[in-house]
Amino acid sequence: MTEYIQVGPEDRAEPRSHVIKLHGPEGFEGMRRAGRLAAEILDALVPQVVPGVTTGEIDSIVQRMTLEAGGVPATLGYRGYTKSCCTSINHVVCHGIPGDKVLKGGDIVNIDVTPILDGWHGDTSRMFLVGDVPLKAKKLVDVTFECLMLGLEQARPGNRLGDVAHTIQSHAEKHRYGVVRDFCGHGLGRLFHDSPEVIHAGRPGTGPELKPGMFFTVEPMINIGRADVKLLEDGWTAVTRDRSLSAQFEHSIGITETGCEIFTKSPKGLDKPPY
Ligand code: MF3
Ligand code: CO
Ligand code: CO
Repeated sequence: MTEYIQVGPEDRAEPRSHVIKLHGPEGFEGMRRAGRLAAEILDALVPQVVPGVTTGEIDSIVQRMTLEAGGVPATLGYRGYTKSCCTSINHVVCHGIPGDKVLKGGDIVNIDVTPILDGWHGDTSRMFLVGDVPLKAKKLVDVTFECLMLGLEQARPGNRLGDVAHTIQSHAEKHRYGVVRDFCGHGLGRLFHDSPEVIHAGRPGTGPELKPGMFFTVEPMINIGRADVKLLEDGWTAVTRDRSLSAQFEHSIGITETGCEIFTKSPKGLDKPPY
């Protein structure tokens, strides 16, 4: 059913749902550099994400750092999106649009960046805690990070995407949290969003088998309440229907012979708060 094709570094073929690209050493090298830049941008934001700053100011920093490094923000002009990152606060699940909104103490915010460097996409997001955050919110953030990392432990040849999904779902539901179904991780490389679709809830032993050379993101969105989301009128911002808090972490990875390489790990060890 699933087909795999070995691709060279120049391959930009549009996604086909049953075809998964397997990348070579140049791809790994390109993704390492793009992923590192993405992680460095999030590292640099740590001292900036404080009460009183606007999400638009954060966006400007992301744009400036990306361009200074010789990259381009993948989201700029992507399907009509006009910003360099997404800033998703509290009950916003994903794709919050930066603007005049001021961060206040007690907020939790996801910042999602995707620089394109030499044609390769490094896609990563982390949660940031603004000032003093209630324990309940901090626990959601901790468990969401655990969901991502436990899922990545399952990302190795021979396992299937359903194994990654099931591990994430089990951990979230153990804490009575809801796993968002409306948005998924995705293949990436020369393209921002490629095959396969990477679900975050599913059954073990199902879905495409993981093979060395696959590049994709894992980016679980976990809600304190129910899993249901709705889209706001701007056509981008997704929020929890019950207005419960939502958290997300995202890494871009490549499947190796023995497991996975995380392209977007923080060089400074700032992968999860407190930073
Ligand atoms: N970075 C997001 C992802 O993880 C996609 C954002 S697309 C945007 O796939 F247009 F909303 F920015
Ligand atoms: Co992504
Ligand atoms: Co992203």
